[in-house]
Amino acid sequence: MQREPLVDGHGRRIGDVRVSVTDRCNFRCQYCMPAEGLPWLERDAVLTFEEIERLVRLLAEMGVHDVRLTGGEPLVRKDFPQLVELLGAVPGVEDLSITTNGYLLERDAEALVRAGAQRFNVSIDALQRDRFFELTRRDALPQVLRGLEVLAAFPEAHPIKVNAVAMRGFTEDEVLPFARFAREHPYEVRFIEFMPLDADQAWTPESVLTGEEIRALIEAEFPLEPEPREPSATARVYRFADGKGRIGFINPVSEPFCGDCNRIRLTAEGRLRTCLFSLAETDLREPLRSGASDAEIERVIRDAVWRKELKHRVNEPGFVQPARTMSAIGG
Ligand code: 5AD
Ligand code: SF4
Repeated sequence: MQREPLVDGHGRRIGDVRVSVTDRCNFRCQYCMPAEGLPWLERDAVLTFEEIERLVRLLAEMGVHDVRLTGGEPLVRKDFPQLVELLGAVPGVEDLSITTNGYLLERDAEALVRAGAQRFNVSIDALQRDRFFELTRRDALPQVLRGLEVLAAFPEAHPIKVNAVAMRGFTEDEVLPFARFAREHPYEVRFIEFMPLDADQAWTPESVLTGEEIRALIEAEFPLEPEPREPSATARVYRFADGKGRIGFINPVSEPFCGDCNRIRLTAEGRLRTCLFSLAETDLREPLRSGASDAEIERVIRDAVWRKELKHRVNEPGFVQPARTMSAIGG
């Protein structure tokens, strides 16, 4: 069934949902989780595959064509490829993608591609083993790189994106190795500015290494040419002038792209978030579990989306960091 498009009160049409399928993670990235982990949700607090499918179907009927599965770490969810298959079969879902830390890709890449996952973002923040360990608190770089290779063997999974969070005092030394990595492999490396979504609340404006700074470091060695920006895209993409690969910059802090944001998020326990930095969220699990009709759930979703934040206020005085970390929101 076709429903009216999903629009917010600022005239933005919503076309993309990020679904967190678990709050659990096998890493402890400094910019996301505390070293000791977080108290995990009880199993029955987390939406079932059937509940996720129902919400995704409703959203797809309202024109939400892009579905990205995230976590925590989505691959730690039991039988995750089955969920991918379920969602891939939902009419109206045109683009089904996964954001993963790559640790379990060696085991799961084949099952995920077969199940219909079309695109992958793999998070890698350093290309030296000891620095990867320092940042993620797991000595897992070789395992992740093996997973990436297994994934890369599937032509259907390309183009593969590698995401690196950019932090001042850490990422500077990784910039040129990542640039070479992007030139030598069929991966598009994208630097993401560090955002105030960390459990340790260590973020400060100075701790952000901006996309422009990184671009300048790369440009000094390898000239870049900009590619046209796609509507609602988060990344500014450049190609190496000699034609060897591409590199991207996601600059939410220094160059916010809220104006044409078409994204909403669903947490693992079924709360709808209309912005990464939302301070309020809307519970969809309660209506799902108390027998609400599709029309009733549609109404709850529309009301929440109508109030979607105009923009984030990270750069403004009085900014309040959300209580949830990235792992509990879903990148
Ligand atoms: N700032 C920027 N990116 C972050 N991610 C996690 N926490 C942060 C943060 N504080 C990224 C991960 C992954 C995606 C899910 O979000 O590295 O690429
Ligand atoms: Fe896990 Fe991703 Fe958070 Fe790292 S950023 S701790 S991989 S959820």
